[in-house]
Amino acid sequence: MDPHTMTPRLPRLFKRGEQRKRPAGALPLGFHDTERRRWVSLPMTHTYICGLTGSGKSQIITNLLVNMADAIAEGKVLTYGVDLKDGVEMSAYGRLIGRLATEKTAASDMFSDLRNELAKRNRMLIEQHRRKVGIGQETPLLLVILDEAAELRGDSEAATRKLLAPLDSLLRLGRSAGLMVIASSQDPRKESFKLRDRFPSRIALRLNSIEESRLLMGEDALQAGCAPWLIPLDRPGTGWIWDTRMATRFRVPFIDDTQLEQYRT
Ligand SMILES: Nc1ncnc2c1ncn2[C@@H]1O[C@H](COP(=O)(O)OP(=O)(O)OP(=O)(O)O)[C@@H](O)[C@H]1O
Ligand SMILES: [Mg+2]
Repeated sequence: MDPHTMTPRLPRLFKRGEQRKRPAGALPLGFHDTERRRWVSLPMTHTYICGLTGSGKSQIITNLLVNMADAIAEGKVLTYGVDLKDGVEMSAYGRLIGRLATEKTAASDMFSDLRNELAKRNRMLIEQHRRKVGIGQETPLLLVILDEAAELRGDSEAATRKLLAPLDSLLRLGRSAGLMVIASSQDPRKESFKLRDRFPSRIALRLNSIEESRLLMGEDALQAGCAPWLIPLDRPGTGWIWDTRMATRFRVPFIDDTQLEQYRT
C-alpha cells in the first residue's frame, strides 16, 4: 500500500469528563483532579511521589487517605505510616493512619511485623492453592505510606542498608500478598533513596529541571508529554502520573486541617 494514502494512527486523546467518577465497587485508591474534573486511579502497585518542597506531596497523601476513609473504617484497608519529620504531618491524619512510626526503630519494627504478616498470608495462599490474595475484610490491603522516604537512612552505609533491608523485602514480595507502599521524596535521584527503583508507578510534582524529570519518570514519559519542570511555582498540588502507557496531568484539591478534624476523635 502507498504509505501516503494510509491514515495515520493518532494516539487516543483523553476526552474531557472521561473517567470522571470513581470506579464503582473498586477500592477508591486515587484522587480527584480539579483541573479536568475527573477521578484519577492509582495502579495497585508501589508508587513513588516526588517533588520539590512545597510542591504538594503531602497533599496527595492526604487526598488518598481521605478518599479511602470509608474503606479504612470498614477494615478493607490497614494503613501504616512512617513520618520521620517527628510525625508533624501524619499525626494530623488521626484514625486514617492505623499505626504510625515517627522514628527509625519504630519504622524498623513496623516493617518486620509486616514481613511476618506477609509470611502468614503466603502460607495461606499455599494452603489454598492460590497465588494472589483478594482484598477485602478477611485480607485487607496493607497500605504503607512513607512521607519523606529519604529520611530513612542510618549514620553509615551499613546502618542504612540494615534499616532498608526489611522494607526492600516488603517491596519485592508484597504485591501478591496485598501490600502496597506509597513513598514521597523531594529528590528524584536514586542516591537519595536506594529503593527508588522498586517503585513501578511514579508521580512527579514540580521538579527543578528536565534532567531531574527524566531521572524520575524516564524518557518514554517525557515523550508522552510529561513535563513536571514546567509546573508553575504557584500551582502546588499539580503533578503528572505515568503508568507506562499514558502521562496524565492533574491537580489535587487542597484539604486543610479543619477538614481532617473529623478523623481525629
Ligand atoms: N491543591 C492545592 N491548592 C492550593 N494550595 C495547595 C494545594 N496543594 C498544596 N497547596 C499548598 O502548598 C503547601 C505545600 O503542600 P505540601 O505540604 O503537600 O507540600 P510537600 O511537597 O509535602 O512539601 P514538603 O516537602 O516541604 O513536605 C500546602 O501547605 C498548601 O498551602
Ligand atoms: Mg510534605
